[in-house]
Amino acid sequence: MQHGHAEGRGADSATTTAKVAADLVLRGAGELVTMSVPPAAGLGVIAGGALAARDGVIVWVGREAELPQAVDLAADGLELDAQGCCVLPGFVDAHTHVPFAGSRADEYGERLGGVSYADILARGGGINRTVTATRQASEGELARLCTERYDSMLRYGTTTAEVKSGYGLTTADEAKQLRAAAVAHPLRRELTFLGAHFVPPEYAGRDDAFIDLVCEEMIPACAPLARWCDVFCDQGAFTVDQSRRVLLEGRAAGLGLRIHADELARSGGARLAAELGCVSAEHLIHATWEEIAAMKAAGVVAVVLPGTSYTLGCEYAPARAFLEGGLTLALASDFNPGSCYCENLQLMISLACQQMRLTPDEALYAATAGGAAALRRDDVGVLAVGKRCDFAVLVSANRRELPYHFGVNLVSDVVVAGGVVVRDGARFRQEVRP
Ligand code: NIG
Ligand code: FE
Repeated sequence: MQHGHAEGRGADSATTTAKVAADLVLRGAGELVTMSVPPAAGLGVIAGGALAARDGVIVWVGREAELPQAVDLAADGLELDAQGCCVLPGFVDAHTHVPFAGSRADEYGERLGGVSYADILARGGGINRTVTATRQASEGELARLCTERYDSMLRYGTTTAEVKSGYGLTTADEAKQLRAAAVAHPLRRELTFLGAHFVPPEYAGRDDAFIDLVCEEMIPACAPLARWCDVFCDQGAFTVDQSRRVLLEGRAAGLGLRIHADELARSGGARLAAELGCVSAEHLIHATWEEIAAMKAAGVVAVVLPGTSYTLGCEYAPARAFLEGGLTLALASDFNPGSCYCENLQLMISLACQQMRLTPDEALYAATAGGAAALRRDDVGVLAVGKRCDFAVLVSANRRELPYHFGVNLVSDVVVAGGVVVRDGARFRQEVRP
């Protein structure tokens, strides 16, 4: 993508009064995929598209041919030329577990040899192993790890991410994770308290006492650091009753509700999501038609995580059934050290097409507008007037290359809040404005 400044380009001052003032213009989009309408209506694609923004917010979207009459770019404004490539909203990754320390690469190898994820959890490996490493890490070290991972997410085109705690499992360590996750960085974040992720070793056999701790101590301490409360409602983690307690306590503390449901087994989590009116239910590999109907009635967004099924070598969530049942669908990474060590949403788009039989447009919508819906955000995931100026420029003219040309990074440039954060595939740290 070409970058330049407006200075010296000879603005047409005679008609400026009728124009909208901008400090950034993007032109030359072979296709500008606005996501303003759902896949069945064509995603609001503008061939030969352009957009303009001011103070990080989109002020104009349209055909490039209309740009000169519509927009007045400030003399020191930034002009970007996509040179015929596809431009789409930055991805919205609605489910990640970024702030952790340590690696579980050896467990991955064991699982390939036939040891199950549940067996590894049961013998004290898995989540609790990451808990040990995360407790040992300082807040500064976790913030450094978050920064590296956020940089990588930006390079793959993600501009907003939900980020969960859940590897501290003491009040101090959960708060430490949430503070580290909030490290200054251009990636937009939605922080989630997931203190009820797993029973830590010191509470082994005393699950309810741990839930008491979560409700009585962790939630009051962590609620000011997060927007959401999540719980791992599954076989080997927490029951429906325990999960209900945590979520009701989270709600009372002012947090929005989301839930890890039906990932490892039929957990009743999807039904609980409907009962409590959670904003989202996530994973949902074992969800049934009855649960889909209940979630639809309650307005629960279904978040699917194909990278987890890929890593665990298990079934994929029935995403087609979710769409047929009328659910809003979000596609996210589940980036975490155990069941999906991958922050690349482009790969998730490919897996969703290949393994969940989504169309490319359905997968793209779920990774942008769908992710925004799962986070109850109406300012991201769509390129329209009044939305944040967050977008990704591909190396290709065609959005459908994304699932098709897989395993490589097809994003060349990324803009967040009207500022360039990735340039020619590399994290761009300098202030681009003069
Ligand atoms: O979403 N389900 C719970 N949490 C993660 C796995 C965490 C881990 O293995 O460390 C998940 O799959
Ligand atoms: Fe998860």
